[in-house]
Amino acid sequence: MFDAKVYSERRNRLRQKINNGIILFLGNPESPMNYPSNTFHFRQDSSFLYYFGLDMPNIAGILDVDENKDYLFGDNFDLDDIIWMGPQPSMKELGKTVGVKNAEPYGHLVEKLHDAIEKGRKIHFLPPYRGETILLLEDLLGINQNLIQSYVSKDLIKAVVAMRSIKDTHEIEELEKAANIAYEMHVTAMKMAKPGTYEREITGVVEGIPVSQGGMISFPIILTQNGETLHNHYHGNKLEEGKMMLTDTGAETPMHYASDCTRTVPVGGKFNQRQKDIYQIVLEANNKAREATKPGITYLSVHTLAVKTVVEGLKNLGLMKGDVNAAVEQGAHAMFMPHGLGHMMGLDVHDMEGLGEDYVGYDEETKRGSIFGFSGLRLGRKLQPGFVLTNEPGTYFIPELIKRWKEQGKFTEFINYDKVESYIGFGGVRLEDDILVTQDGCRILGDKRIPITPEEVEETMNG
Ligand code: GLY
Ligand code: MN
Ligand code: MN
Repeated sequence: MFDAKVYSERRNRLRQKINNGIILFLGNPESPMNYPSNTFHFRQDSSFLYYFGLDMPNIAGILDVDENKDYLFGDNFDLDDIIWMGPQPSMKELGKTVGVKNAEPYGHLVEKLHDAIEKGRKIHFLPPYRGETILLLEDLLGINQNLIQSYVSKDLIKAVVAMRSIKDTHEIEELEKAANIAYEMHVTAMKMAKPGTYEREITGVVEGIPVSQGGMISFPIILTQNGETLHNHYHGNKLEEGKMMLTDTGAETPMHYASDCTRTVPVGGKFNQRQKDIYQIVLEANNKAREATKPGITYLSVHTLAVKTVVEGLKNLGLMKGDVNAAVEQGAHAMFMPHGLGHMMGLDVHDMEGLGEDYVGYDEETKRGSIFGFSGLRLGRKLQPGFVLTNEPGTYFIPELIKRWKEQGKFTEFINYDKVESYIGFGGVRLEDDILVTQDGCRILGDKRIPITPEEVEETMNG
């Protein structure tokens, strides 16, 4: 946990951004897997962690804007808990660690909220994303569960997004740690990518790395020799010579700051020419995007630069043709890169996505594009120092998409379908780094960049 001061200051700043009323943060409860006491690994709500720091179930926090006071609600552990869980601090002691003086039993939360409702005070809360939380809000606020989403506070969403978007030095230190764990995960995966090895064997070892350092994975591992499926979580294939293994994985530190990196490597450790040709295009898109990333420019423009680089490269290989700008304007690139260049990252791997993608990635000035090839871009708005984001261009050969677009006669002026069809079975390449926007540019997080040039990758795999 950070120092208590960090959390007090964050809450003070948030209170100043909200005119009046009370701000309610509900921590997450445990979530059962297959019977009530057999639960998924506990994950605290990220906004709760940001303002109240406590990583445990069944607690809630309130910022009373009018009274200028913070409250923590949670029950002390009883003897039975202590028998099963060992000695536990009291709520008062826990409150002190995050700068909250007023620690009260959970039951008092209802009283505090009912009192506010009776007085007609505004209760600000963030969009819930778990069924249990929706039901709890229904119970606490007397709002029908189907209407809860329409009562969320837009002012609170905007204030929280404004604060969590700019990472402070404590947070950057944590994100660096997460990046360093991702380095280990990826280098380990590269060394294991030998023909005859099952994807699941590598997945198991990679997942153990953040766990062994007190953390966990930041999202379910994507590790596959069929990288054309963007979020492929099937790990049952035996790796074959001639295929590429795409690994998209990252860690959460014990404080839950994330990393999210992708590398794509030739099974067996040696690129063939066809693999190298596609790989170099994605690498160039990644490098150009990073070189262009700086405060004051929109990530939409960086996305556009990256997809133009991909189109230019595919044109050189004879897979695309025609005018590059026109191809991108119309969305022909989406055949090969159907996803966005990147997203914010922090306490969530897709940072704050639960608060609403458009609040996080767009603003009054930059609106989300509507055509396929732009509409999926999670982050489009102007960049600011302190933003942490991913840079993850890719090039994929997706058989169903090729087949459908060819049947529809789509973009025949830009796509050489005959040549593209000869790449069916190639898979896909994605190269993803985590980036901090600085005062005058950006830098990759972590002590060392995960091996990325074909030479570095081959050396790592064979070294
Ligand atoms: N977690 C997948 C990605 O955004 O890269
Ligand atoms: Mn990723
Ligand atoms: Mn990502």
